[in-house]
Amino acid sequence: MENERFITSTLNKKDAEAESTLRPQSFSAFPGQTKTKERLEIYVQAAKNRSEPLGHLLLSGPPGLGKTTLAYIIANEKGANIKTSSGPVIEKPGDLAGLLTSLEKGDILFIDEIHRLNTAVEEYLYSAMEDFFIDIMIDQGPGARSVRLNIPEFTLIGATTRQGLLSAPLRSRFELSLRLDYYAPEELSAIVQRSAGILGVSIDPEGALEIARRSRGTPRIANNLLRWTRDYAQVKSCGHITRELANNALTMLDIDDSGLDEMDKRILEMIMVNFKGGPVGLNSLSVAVGEEADTIEDVYEPYLIQEGYMMRTPQGRIVSEKSWQLFGLKPPSHQNIRRGGGFRRYHDDQPDLL
Ligand SMILES: Nc1ncnc2c1ncn2[C@@H]1O[C@H](COP(=O)(O)OP(=O)(O)OP(=O)(O)O)[C@@H](O)[C@H]1O
Ligand SMILES: [Mg+2]
Repeated sequence: MENERFITSTLNKKDAEAESTLRPQSFSAFPGQTKTKERLEIYVQAAKNRSEPLGHLLLSGPPGLGKTTLAYIIANEKGANIKTSSGPVIEKPGDLAGLLTSLEKGDILFIDEIHRLNTAVEEYLYSAMEDFFIDIMIDQGPGARSVRLNIPEFTLIGATTRQGLLSAPLRSRFELSLRLDYYAPEELSAIVQRSAGILGVSIDPEGALEIARRSRGTPRIANNLLRWTRDYAQVKSCGHITRELANNALTMLDIDDSGLDEMDKRILEMIMVNFKGGPVGLNSLSVAVGEEADTIEDVYEPYLIQEGYMMRTPQGRIVSEKSWQLFGLKPPSHQNIRRGGGFRRYHDDQPDLL
């Protein structure tokens, strides 16, 4: 779909290049996530004062909120080297051994999507994290023997969109575990203004806030929408972004005033129209809207739940009164509507439903 390039919160290669130019390099240039940032600043400063490597750290939260960015900032503020890899790329224990033995004392190893490490590799990681060695098997059959490799004292920073999928032994080996939340419009507006400055785009504070309000609480989406609005402004006007211009540009992408994108709305509408407001299981919903169940769970649902449009119940997903109002639809008479405020804040370690 044409619009998806702008509104999706997952990455392709070109976007990844564009992103690196907009990545803040220090805590002070990183708006939002105040509590997380304060904790990290203390964590880093204390380790620096003791001249010790940082303890292992887990960052979790939906895509595009700044996990990778924070890992780089931590390395920068600590003055440490950072090497990056990701769960699915480390296929065998040997791959992990290669990575770990290439580190030096105090280095940071960043493993993205750490919930996707396979079990065999994960078990090797336990001794590496705790006691800085791994026992690796050499040869097979009768000649097989195990060799102990010592590893320099390193710091593992793991990032995950699904903290609930991490095994308990792995989770417990992180000294600190922090969860990133969706950003408030004012915080995103500061991010949009900062990015506009880097990209050389002229924008009003009201224009920045309009983009911020419609970015699903996500900096990656805010930056993508800023780029789109810049293009729109260059073609349709003199290049300056006002509130009205941002509104027109975003409306053209079908991102309406509620800030929900096309897939958000498709999901809600499907539950209301085809499933009479729910409850509906994740898999049925996934087939009905034509989107992967994982993507619905990681990307769409957390925001819709946080904003009070839908809820998870033991029977499945249901929409709230706010959704019926947004679409101007009437719930079926038997539907027992949940009123706003009754929903639980989203946490991805809630048990998965059907
Ligand atoms: N607080 C922030 N201030 C400014 N820019 C931010 C902030 N958080 C994220 N960004 C920007 O948003 C983009 C996405 O951030 P990042 O890659 O760190 O997200 P992520 O949580 O690692 O996502 P994923 O789960 O997809 O890996 C980057 O371009 C980054 O510069
Ligand atoms: Mg990332």
